Amino acid sequence: MIEVAGLTKRYGPTLAVSDVSFEARKGEVLGFLGPNGAGKTTTMRVITGYLPPSEGKIRVAGYDVVDEPLEAKRRIGYLPESPPVYPDMTVIEYLAFVARIKGVARKDIKTRVQEASEKCAVTDVARRQIGKLSKGYRQRVGLAQALIHNPEVLILDEPTAGLDPKQIIETRELIRGLAGQHTVVLSTHILPEVSKTCERVVVISQGKIVAQGAPDELTHRLQGFETVLITIEGPAAEVMEKLHRVGGVQMVEPRDAADSRTTFEVQAEKGRDVRAELARAVVESRWNLLELKTSGMSLEDIFLKLTTKDVSEDSVARNQPSALLEGLHAEADRSEQH
Ligand SMILES: Nc1ncnc2c1ncn2[C@@H]1O[C@H](COP(=O)(O)OP(=O)(O)OP(=O)(O)O)[C@@H](O)[C@H]1O
Ligand SMILES: [Mg+2]
Repeated sequence: MIEVAGLTKRYGPTLAVSDVSFEARKGEVLGFLGPNGAGKTTTMRVITGYLPPSEGKIRVAGYDVVDEPLEAKRRIGYLPESPPVYPDMTVIEYLAFVARIKGVARKDIKTRVQEASEKCAVTDVARRQIGKLSKGYRQRVGLAQALIHNPEVLILDEPTAGLDPKQIIETRELIRGLAGQHTVVLSTHILPEVSKTCERVVVISQGKIVAQGAPDELTHRLQGFETVLITIEGPAAEVMEKLHRVGGVQMVEPRDAADSRTTFEVQAEKGRDVRAELARAVVESRWNLLELKTSGMSLEDIFLKLTTKDVSEDSVARNQPSALLEGLHAEADRSEQH
């Protein structure tokens, strides 16, 4: 449904997106995940035909966005990073206005405005001026205008940015409900978003794709070892040494300590379950085994692993990745709490 092949975009001397290729299949929700400045908005603006690519081919529903822009645009609904709103218009007026621009037949405009308003839960503010709406409602109006002509493809740039927790959940549900009938690409720099909303994820960093696949697949592929968390009451140094000697164990590191209890992270060879042997080693030494569990790699760990490597050798975007990622951490933490 969406094919992006070898997309490169330069802004003067700045290489914003470099040789990006990916596809979105009909009816799927594809997550476009990357830290600030990664090139998400740029890629989306090229797909929607608002920016010409420097190089590469982009097809939407079979139409080349450069050669057949009108055909392509007719099939795309776009929620930009900052939705273009006309503060003096009421919600209804604005949606009807967008419907006309998008070529909705005059007789269908009323129905389409009604349907999109209901889908995006803006019916209760339909007659209010957009400029007087809260950020969350403005965002929903933005979504409603993207849906107004019932496009096959929806490109949503950070659809949940700036929303409160309840609105975030509602918006995610709304997006999931659009899958099947629509092909959706949504960008985000928030990790929980992709695992909650998307079937597949493309991870972009400094203008380049660093991974793509189902969230589970990415976890599996990147995790080269099994991780176990074990909490033991006993002399930490001795415990650590003993755990190290268990067959298959490659690394033992203390993670958390309180009183005489220590939690260790134990990494073992891939495919080897060392839990029983770890437990035996602890019990044989007459220490108390308080907890033992396997620990998968979180999507956040994966994201950091993917987006922090090779930062210095690449001149793509001259950002400061560490500061960006700190911001990202904070953001992810906040949204995890919801
Ligand atoms: N109009 C522009 N002129 C020059 N450089 C630009 C322009 N727009 C974006 N860039 C640069 O291109 C790179 C990618 O920016 P882009 O906005 O696509 O990133 P993003 O992934 O959407 O980031 P964010 O999460 O902050 O929205 C950045 O280095 C940015 O500074
Ligand atoms: Mg952006």
